[in-house]
This record gives sequence, C-alpha cells and structure tokens, in this order.
Amino acid sequence: MSKGLFITLEGGEGAGKSTQLAYIRQRIEDAGIPLHVTREPGGTPLAEEIRALLLGHRDETMASDAELLLMFAARAQHLAQLIRPALARDEWVLCDRFTDATYAYQGGGRGIDFERIAVLEDWVQGELRPDLTLLLDLPVEVGMVRAGQRGDLDRFEREQRGFFEHVRTAYRERAEQEPGRFRVIDAAQDIAGVQRQIDAVLAPLLAQATGKSA
Ligand code: TMP
Repeated sequence: MSKGLFITLEGGEGAGKSTQLAYIRQRIEDAGIPLHVTREPGGTPLAEEIRALLLGHRDETMASDAELLLMFAARAQHLAQLIRPALARDEWVLCDRFTDATYAYQGGGRGIDFERIAVLEDWVQGELRPDLTLLLDLPVEVGMVRAGQRGDLDRFEREQRGFFEHVRTAYRERAEQEPGRFRVIDAAQDIAGVQRQIDAVLAPLLAQATGKSA
C-alpha cells in the first residue's frame, strides 16, 4: 500500500479548476488508488456552513481578520474530520483549494501580513503541508471573462480586477518560493493542453503508487 498523498489544486477565478479537478480525480481513481475529493472552505457539514457564511452576501462588511479566522476555523474542522484521518489510512486526498488560497486571497487580495497567516497555518496544521500543489495560472483578464459567463457571483467573485491581480501575484510568488511542492500549469491553454501538463505531473506519482512504470 502506498503512502497517503495530499494534493491541492489552486488557481484564480475562471482558471478551469472544476474541469481539471474532475480530470485529476478520474486519473487517480482509474489507477485504483483510494481517494477523497474535497474542497475548502468546506469539506464537512460544519465547514460547509462556515463556507456559506464566507461566500454569502450581507449588509454588514466582513472584517478581514474575521474572514481569515473563519477560513482557518473551517480548515481545522476539515483537517480533524476528513483530511488527517484519510491520510492516516494511507488514502489520497485531492483538495480544491487549501492554505495557499489563504495566502493568495486574504494575504495578497486583502493585504493581511503573510507572517500572521503563517502563525495560523502552524497553529492549525502543525507540520502538515500538501505533498503537491497544482497551480492553474492564467492572466487575470482571461480568467475574469471566463468566470463572468457564470450566473450568480459570490462575495469573492464580485471583487475588482486589482484584487485578482494581487491574488495571482501572491500565488506565483508562493510557487517560486516552494518549487518542490508547486507545479505551475499554464491554464491559458485549451483543455487538452492543460490536461497534458497535468498528466506529465501525475504520471510518475501514479506509477510509483501502483508499482507500474510511467
Ligand atoms: P471556490 O470558488 O474555488 O470554491 O472558492 C471559494 C472562494 O473562497 C474563492 O473565491 C476563493 C476563496 N478562498 C479564500 O479567500 N481563502 C481560502 O483560504 C480559500 C480556501 C478560499
């Protein structure tokens, strides 16, 4: 039995995360590896309730620190209920966003110091970090056109272009700082092109886990 692997998928608005998440899921399941597919904020009933608080609209403005702490409250619950138990059983976890999104959105977007986020990361996660993070990267204007074709926009999707430029910059900086963990995928390519890039990353991992050559 292979060791459990914690894979996260990140990207800005309109990067094609849902499509590629389904693709990655298929590739891992086809290899016969036990997998949990989950998301943040959310992933358990309580964490999904916190997600609704975070994404919903209300008259009262949400303070940036309240937003940050709610993200980590949801994460603590998700880690305790789902992520840590799955990894302990040597199962794989594929998570649609994780703490890199907090650095990108609450750090880059809202302007909260990265050091303060790092304190919460250490507190809530201890040593746990993703084994692999796929960053779907594309120019903000391309992503906004794609995302704008959707219907109801949540509280983050309603942000302006400048916010998303900061989000992208923060994601790319994190990828540069941790090249061992991150793989940056050019998400401006068509779906087949993006999937070829993802395959190149996944193939050796799947081969290693199943004992077959890539
Ligand atoms: P989603 O639309 O990809 O499901 O993500 C929900 C929104 O939550 C998205 O706009 C990014 C935001 N988000 C943060 O701001 N901080 C976080 O830590 C996470 C996980 C998501």
